Amino acid sequence: MNTITLNNGVTMPQLGFGVWQVADDEAESAVATALSAGYRSIDTAKLYHNEAGVGRAVRESGIARDELFITTKLWNDEHGYDSALRAFDASMERLGLDVLDLYLIHWPAPAQDKYVETWKALEKLYADGRVRAIGVSNFTVQTLDRLLDKADVVPAVNQIELHPQLAQDALRAYDSAHGIATEAWSPLGQGKGLLDEPVLTRIAAKHDRTPAQVVLRWHIQLGNVVIPKSVTPERIRQNIDVFDFQLDPADMTEIASMDAGRRLGPDPATFG
Ligand code: A2P
Repeated sequence: MNTITLNNGVTMPQLGFGVWQVADDEAESAVATALSAGYRSIDTAKLYHNEAGVGRAVRESGIARDELFITTKLWNDEHGYDSALRAFDASMERLGLDVLDLYLIHWPAPAQDKYVETWKALEKLYADGRVRAIGVSNFTVQTLDRLLDKADVVPAVNQIELHPQLAQDALRAYDSAHGIATEAWSPLGQGKGLLDEPVLTRIAAKHDRTPAQVVLRWHIQLGNVVIPKSVTPERIRQNIDVFDFQLDPADMTEIASMDAGRRLGPDPATFG
């Protein structure tokens, strides 16, 4: 498994397991399957209502805690200094963990205008050693500019919607110029539709792989952290099996040509 080193020296697996839209009981079995397939990074959130199921799977796996990398996120109604500190405690209680690996502000929710004070609470949790790295999700150049202006700690990660039809070149370049790792959510473009695109089926056939594996390999070669979601055991195993082949420069260029600025989720400039 490839790892990337975050701006504070902490290492993070480049490929992890996402559990958005997975019910709590289903999350437990999906995470158990993922851990036995070799995943060591799990990405959840308060909003997903499955932190407890993730925590159960992690504890029952018997895998040493320091071999695992667990991420969760603070929801939009938890912004604010004191409420962020309380939100963290509640998430940790549900997860059943003492120390978290990565805590993210889920959305900047600029209309609330509380992400800077929320960030101050995350800096406090980080200083107190309750979380090994802190970051943001769905931040834009504009909200990052404002955050960086006020921050003592530069976010380690910006987790954003990113797939071949929304390649986010400008935001990836901004993140990278500021030492922020870019993590892709909905890295497979939520599956159907994107994975049937002829460009991807053709490249997949050429490498004797699936379109999903081609897309995940594209992310890995771009340097993105990637967290594909699946509840299907065969796909869970397939999605981590992307470290023994290479896309060539022509494949990368062809996939880059699919970028259409096509957002599947909400617009971070207005959401929340
Ligand atoms: P399922 O969970 O039913 O297996 P994303 O991570 O971009 O949000 O995509 C998740 C969606 O893609 C889910 O609907 C998931 O279906 C589907 N998916 C995940 N892995 C694969 C795969 N290897 N091949 C086809 N579809 C997949």
